[in-house]
Order: sequence, then structure tokens, then C-alpha cells
Amino acid sequence: MVSLRLILFVFLTIVNFPLDHSEIVSSKPQGVRAAYWPSFTGYPASSIDTSYFSHIYYAFVLPSPTTYALDIMSDDVEKLLEFTNATSLWNPPAKTVLSIGGGGGGALPGIFSSMASEQYSRANFINSTIEVARDYNFDGVDLDWELPSNESDMSNLGLLFKEWREAIEYEAHATGRPRLILTSAVYYASTVSFNGGPRSYPIVEITKYVDWVSPMCFGYHGSWDNFTGLGSALYDPNTNLSTDFGIGSWIQAGVPSEKIVLGMPLYGPTWSLQDRNDNIIGAPTIGTGPGSGLLVYSQVIDFNKENNSTIVFDNTMVSYYSYSGDSWVSYDDVRSIELKVRYARNWALGGYFFWALGQDLDWAISSAASETWLNR
Ligand SMILES: *[C@@H]1O[C@H](CO)[C@@H](O)[C@H](O)[C@H]1NC(C)=O
Ligand SMILES: *[C@@H]1O[C@H](CO)[C@@H](O)[C@H](O)[C@H]1NC(C)=O
Ligand SMILES: *[C@@H]1O[C@H](CO)[C@@H](O)[C@H](O)[C@H]1NC(C)=O
Ligand SMILES: *[C@@H]1O[C@H](CO)[C@@H](O)[C@H](O)[C@H]1NC(C)=O
Ligand SMILES: *[C@@H]1O[C@H](CO)[C@@H](O)[C@H](O)[C@H]1NC(C)=O
Ligand SMILES: *[C@@H]1O[C@H](CO)[C@@H](O)[C@H](O)[C@H]1NC(C)=O
Ligand SMILES: *[C@@H]1O[C@H](CO)[C@@H](O)[C@H](O)[C@H]1NC(C)=O
Repeated sequence: MVSLRLILFVFLTIVNFPLDHSEIVSSKPQGVRAAYWPSFTGYPASSIDTSYFSHIYYAFVLPSPTTYALDIMSDDVEKLLEFTNATSLWNPPAKTVLSIGGGGGGALPGIFSSMASEQYSRANFINSTIEVARDYNFDGVDLDWELPSNESDMSNLGLLFKEWREAIEYEAHATGRPRLILTSAVYYASTVSFNGGPRSYPIVEITKYVDWVSPMCFGYHGSWDNFTGLGSALYDPNTNLSTDFGIGSWIQAGVPSEKIVLGMPLYGPTWSLQDRNDNIIGAPTIGTGPGSGLLVYSQVIDFNKENNSTIVFDNTMVSYYSYSGDSWVSYDDVRSIELKVRYARNWALGGYFFWALGQDLDWAISSAASETWLNR
């Protein structure tokens, strides 16, 4: 008995030592299986089933347009406390990341642009992100700047990543606490070429200073198109609007694959068909469909059931659509999500994330993704 216990003790000591040592080593086997929690939808943080996730992102807090410190209003405090309180109930625990920004548009991209353009404003921003993250017990910080609008925004983003990483390293040494994780949600491809000239993300700084980037591999088609299309095709033989093109561009640009976390949507675009008998991908549309142009996964399933929709799995593009009457809906279901997660594993990516929590139906998609990642 004694010798067995001794052997076990030695074994556990050897096995545990490197695991306790570093975020990267300990997170590698389970991957990054993440999802964003939108604090503004009313979906309770206490309802998150963390058996399916390694990381939960808090979405979002915003920088002040004048000081660039995070603007934590009383609404934010309430939501941050709800989130922080909920984390103590999560079993198993998940890492938490404070996400800054989001797809709100408006003045936000310009605020990020001016923040990133000067050393003092970057420093104010960085300092405040660390303080707020620590105040609310987050394990990391995430930048969601949608999107840098030119080459100078992109090079300033590189400076921001460098100074941010240096600051979180410094803070970790000074306080003896584990270093905050630094991540960023990015465009699906490594070069952005709409609303202005082509501009590429700062690949060297991302590789050196950021723990991982999270390409948003969705929103390829939507209400702005006057034809039907898939919101999140894995492949597209005819255009560059596909996850394979986007992820391929990040890898080709030189970001190590384990620093790429594939984004997947739990929602999809809808249209009204011009002619209900012309219901293929690319069919003409006359406007948005159910949900004013957007249904979340659980609503798509309701829509399909109640309207006896015809459901099509597109084998080539690896995504779903369904139609009924003149309504047409693009979405992902269990099978396409499993194939995308397998794609992520095959390319040795760091993991995947979902936008967003509260949109799944009984964790069907979240559990399929997690099982596919872990059991393959
Ligand atoms: C969170 O917990 C704190 C301390 O226990 C409590 O004061 C607060 O009301 C809780 N907030 C929410 C939103 O649950
Ligand atoms: C932020 O700035 C304040 C004031 O200079 C300083 O006391 C504090 O240590 C800084 N915090 C971090 C996390 O750098
Ligand atoms: C880049 O874009 C930002 C934000 O729109 C703008 O303020 C800045 O002047 C632009 N810089 C150049 C060099 O065009
Ligand atoms: C769709 O939009 C394109 C370009 O905006 C236009 O050329 C085309 O005629 C439109 N098609 C229909 C069916 O409205
Ligand atoms: C797709 O991207 C490639 C590489 O960036 C480019 O050469 C090509 O013109 C793009 N094709 C389309 C249809 O935009
Ligand atoms: C069924 O389709 C109609 C017409 O598009 C729509 O108004 C209704 O909401 C759909 N039912 C569900 C449960 O989505
Ligand atoms: C769907 O099919 C069921 C059973 O065939 C039928 O009772 C119902 O009326 C249909 N609903 C619609 C919206 O077509």
C-alpha cells in the first residue's frame, strides 16, 4: 500500500507540475471551446452550462470617447456582478474573458482608432482594462474592434497589442497573479477589403503578443444582399466568402494555427423570396424574412417545425438552409457544426467559439461541438 501510494504521489507530482505551470499547456488537450455571453439580452449568466465550454466571454464593455478608459456605467456594474456571481456557480468552472467593443458600429470604430493612435491613450485604455478585469475577477481581456479602417489603424493595433501584452506581463509579475489572457475577435480573413482599401492585420504582433485571435466566420450574406445566400458556409467554390478562405488566409499570413480560434454563429440570415418556386442559393429576394432578417438557432428550429419547412443540407458548402412559402432561412445545425469543428481539428486550430449564448436549443449545438472536439 505504502509503495503504491508513493508511486501515485510521484506520478501525480510529475503530471501535475507542468499543468499548473502554464495556461497554454493546460488548455491544449481540451482546446478553446468558447462562447460569448451578450450581457444585454436578458439571458441569465447562471444558466450557462459550462460542461460544454472552456472560456466564456463577457460581451461587452466600451471605452470612453474622451479618456479611453473603460466606461463602466451602473448598468454595466449590475451585469458584471451578475456575471461574476454566476461564475461561482459554474460546475465545471470556465475561464472568463472581458470583451471590449463589439459590432455596434456607430462611433465605436473611430473611438478605437483614436485610442490606438497615441501612446498616452493606448496606455490609459490598457491600464483601465487591467483594472476592470481584476476588479471583476476575469482571467483575460479581449478586443473586439469592428473593424480597423485603414493601414494606419492596423499598425496602431500592432502597437496596442505589444504594449498591452507588456502591461499584463508587468502586472502579473508585480502582483504575483496569473497573467491575464489577451485575445481579439477579428475579421474572418486576415485582410479586410471592403469600406476602403485593402488592409492587413498586424500578423507579427498578433503572433508575438496575442494568445489567440478569433476570426468571426459568419455574416457572409445577409439583408444587404438581394439574393439568398449562406451566412456561414465552410466552403464556397465561387467566392471568397467562406470559412475555409478566411482561416486559410490567416494561416497563409503566418499566424500559427494554434493561435486561431474559429468563430461559428448560432444565428442566421432570412429573406423573402421574389418567387416562392425559385428557392435555391442565389435566388432573388425582395427583402428580409422572419425575424426581420435574422433568426437565432432555437427560432429556426421552431420556424422549421411550425411551417413544415423544406430543409436542405448543402454538401458542398457545408451549411443548412430551409424554406417555406416565400420565407428562406440560412443556418447551421448539428451536422454542419460537427464538420466545422472537425475542420478546426484537422487544421490544428486552437479551438472554436460561438456567437452567442442563449441562442442554442437545449445545448444541441454546443454539446455536439464540444463532443466532436474532445472525442475525435
Ligand atoms: C452579486 O453578489 C453580490 C455580493 O454577494 C450581491 O451584493 C449582488 O446583489 C449580486 N448581484 C447580482 C446581479 O446578482
Ligand atoms: C493604472 O494607473 C494608476 C495611476 O497611474 C496606477 O496606480 C495603477 O497601478 C495602474 N494600474 C495598472 C494595472 O497598470
Ligand atoms: C484611418 O482611419 C481613421 C478612422 O477612420 C481616420 O481617423 C484616419 O485619419 C485614417 N488614416 C489615414 C492615414 O487614412
Ligand atoms: C440586386 O442588386 C444589384 C446590384 O445592387 C442589381 O444590379 C440587381 O438588379 C438587383 N436584383 C434584383 C432582382 O433586384
Ligand atoms: C479572392 O482572394 C484572392 C486572394 O486574396 C484574390 O486573388 C481573388 O481575386 C479573390 N477573389 C474574389 C472573387 O474576390
Ligand atoms: C412560420 O412562418 C411565418 C411566415 O414566414 C412566420 O410569420 C412565423 O413566425 C413562422 N413560425 C415560426 C414558429 O417561426
Ligand atoms: C404542417 O403539417 C401539418 C401536418 O401535416 C399540418 O397539420 C399543418 O397545417 C402544416 N402547417 C403548415 C403551416 O403548413
